[in-house]
Amino acid sequence: MSEEKRKIGILTSGGDCAGLNAAIRGVVFAAAAKGWDVIGIYNSTDGLFSRPMRYKPLTISDFDFPYAALGGTMLGSNNTGNPHLQQKADGSVEELTDAELDERFQSGIEELGISSLVVVGGDGSMAIISKFCKRAGISMIGIPKTIDNDAPGTDVAVGFETAVNVVMESLDKLATTATSHNRIMIAEVMGRGAGHLALAAGIAGYADVILIPEIDYTYEGVVKKLQQIKAQGKKYGLIVISEGIKSPDGKHHFATNGKTFGGVSACFAEKLQSEGYNVRATVLGHVQRAGDPVSDDRILASQFAVRAVDLIEQGATNRVVIHKDGVIKDEALNTILKIANTPVDPQGELVHTARQLGIYVGE
Ligand code: F6P
Repeated sequence: MSEEKRKIGILTSGGDCAGLNAAIRGVVFAAAAKGWDVIGIYNSTDGLFSRPMRYKPLTISDFDFPYAALGGTMLGSNNTGNPHLQQKADGSVEELTDAELDERFQSGIEELGISSLVVVGGDGSMAIISKFCKRAGISMIGIPKTIDNDAPGTDVAVGFETAVNVVMESLDKLATTATSHNRIMIAEVMGRGAGHLALAAGIAGYADVILIPEIDYTYEGVVKKLQQIKAQGKKYGLIVISEGIKSPDGKHHFATNGKTFGGVSACFAEKLQSEGYNVRATVLGHVQRAGDPVSDDRILASQFAVRAVDLIEQGATNRVVIHKDGVIKDEALNTILKIANTPVDPQGELVHTARQLGIYVGE
């Protein structure tokens, strides 16, 4: 047990995914093993900015209910990100200046007695929160999470493996109805500008076509593949489309919020339908961010959490835990921020696997 009694904070930030509760649990258990206290901050930094503050001391007994086996985040999150607008206890909204946000963060940290903050989130959240932490004089350690698996610096982020499973299971389900009706099924998969989720799940779910933003495709190439599987006697076809690809008319499609991608599969289906194909499109949507974490995510989240608490003990700050070449490591946040989000490598192993299996992945 460490001699110094510490109190650390933890929050989850950005879009949720499976494995966040496992990361929170890991931090609470690893801290408890050192005799430290943990404060869970609600709704990312909002819990610190709002008055009264919203937080909860977390102990091992909080996990008497198996939250860590569930998706979502027991602390809540925030990815709409305007911290300047804070809801007051009476429901009204107040607008805070940069200076007021800084003051609230600092006084909140002081009141809670936190000396380090663990941020489970994307690199964007880590960059913003680390500045508040620096000004408040506390250390920050980041744990990367995203179903998109494009987080810089790490080979895998918390949430990805579960999302791959969710998409794979959805493809298995689509395949049963597709074969009953001799249909082509198009599944639209999340991922923003990265195709990791579509590629991995498409291979696991035995897709015939996988289209991702990193590799150009032709509509003719897709049709050729559909004709080929028909000639081979296959009764149905599965097309996996990453939400970030352009439709055959060269356009990106956006969700109703106008910001995130969404809707490209419908455009694709319409074109195939107009050429006589029996086709249906399914947007898998936010179910991909749900589901209970698979073992890989529980283990990764636990490993990341232990490393984060170890780093705090060593007095480190502005470090991000990563999984690189099969090993848990950590890297300076500044270095991470210089690395662009990681796209699929068109020459990489998974693309090669897909191609060798006869899957059409573009040109
Ligand atoms: O980054 C994670 C992610 O799920 C993307 O794959 C998707 O495009 C986006 O978030 C959806 O965001 P929102 O929850 O704001 O609709």
